[in-house]
Amino acid sequence: MDRAEILAWLREPDERRLDELWARADAVRRRHVGDAVHLRGLVEFSNHCVRGCAYCGLRAGNRRLTRYRMTADEIMACVRRAVAEGIGTVVLQSGEDDGTRTEWLAGLIRRIKTETPLAVTLSCGERPEADLAAWHAAGADRYLLRFETSNWALFRRIHPPCSPSRSRERDRERTESPHPRLALLARLRELGYETGGGAMVGIPGQGYEDLADDIETFRRLDLDMIGVGPYIPHPHTPLGRRGGSRISDLTSQISNFTSRTSNFTSQITKSNSERMALKVVALARIVCPRANIPSTTALAVVDPARGWELGLTRGANVIMPNLTPPAYRALYEIYPGKPGLFENTAEAVEAIRRRIAALGRHVGTGPGSARAARSPTVPAGARS
Ligand code: 5AD
Repeated sequence: MDRAEILAWLREPDERRLDELWARADAVRRRHVGDAVHLRGLVEFSNHCVRGCAYCGLRAGNRRLTRYRMTADEIMACVRRAVAEGIGTVVLQSGEDDGTRTEWLAGLIRRIKTETPLAVTLSCGERPEADLAAWHAAGADRYLLRFETSNWALFRRIHPPCSPSRSRERDRERTESPHPRLALLARLRELGYETGGGAMVGIPGQGYEDLADDIETFRRLDLDMIGVGPYIPHPHTPLGRRGGSRISDLTSQISNFTSRTSNFTSQITKSNSERMALKVVALARIVCPRANIPSTTALAVVDPARGWELGLTRGANVIMPNLTPPAYRALYEIYPGKPGLFENTAEAVEAIRRRIAALGRHVGTGPGSARAARSPTVPAGARS
């Protein structure tokens, strides 16, 4: 699928024509990764963060948030939970927390790899390369780092520098490299990780051309995992406070933002960001047929009744049940409205299994690696 076609689908307003896109994405999903839905158990082990991302509730500047760091034993209890629930992968996610010591996390990874059969995925932000190498050496299999938007000007606007005392070194890297997360994704791949990127859809100032760039970036980086969700305004963040849902505010915000997207009619807004996120999921599946693509929590937040199902039937093949203990889960407030804050894990996983079965799909067993699907027996021509 070329850029013109990608753009045409992004701009397509007609629901009936869109049925064709959904059907095509679903067929590509079935042909290349089958009917299995892989479960990834998410453990949100620390909500400390040194970054100041303008959209995220964990940003260092959000002083209203009570911060926590789980102990290794608490995390291991969640990991054993994953094993008991028949989940094949644990995802250790945190803010970009300088308090997560390199050796501490390496030790934890070694413990998981020796005591369980689980694949280990990390999602801990833009850490120094030495950390990423140490954690891979300790046994980590995968790393998730969404690039959020491939539009460098927009990326910079929503990612202000860290406070000077915290991470001068990281900011230097940031001003020198064109897009730090794209560079880091390439490095992660070289280090041997299965690599996951992704984007938010509906960031104020983002346009169709930007989303087409994001999709082309998925293809260019040949990502193993692609996470896409709608942007959800968080009231305790600069971007959320500015009224991410109010078109009039957006207009003034956007008018002093000079980019290719200055045509206001092409802006993605809150009212259409869910459908637009689903379009990006579907297009991601078509351009990266073998990738593992989650039906994301943000989709479930904007549409609690059907969000997961819509993702799974429009290209996605992964669900990430939250294994974080409820008391901590409530504090891992990236955006408001995260579901299941009072649910116990076993019931939540059971509900997910039922929803998957209701779609005529089944839960995948084992680690569910995208790399395994890339075995040389797959004809190269089948991959575009
Ligand atoms: N709305 C939607 N997604 C968000 N994320 C962070 N803040 C928000 C928000 N306000 C996403 C980012 C990040 C991931 C962990 O959560 O894409 O990479």
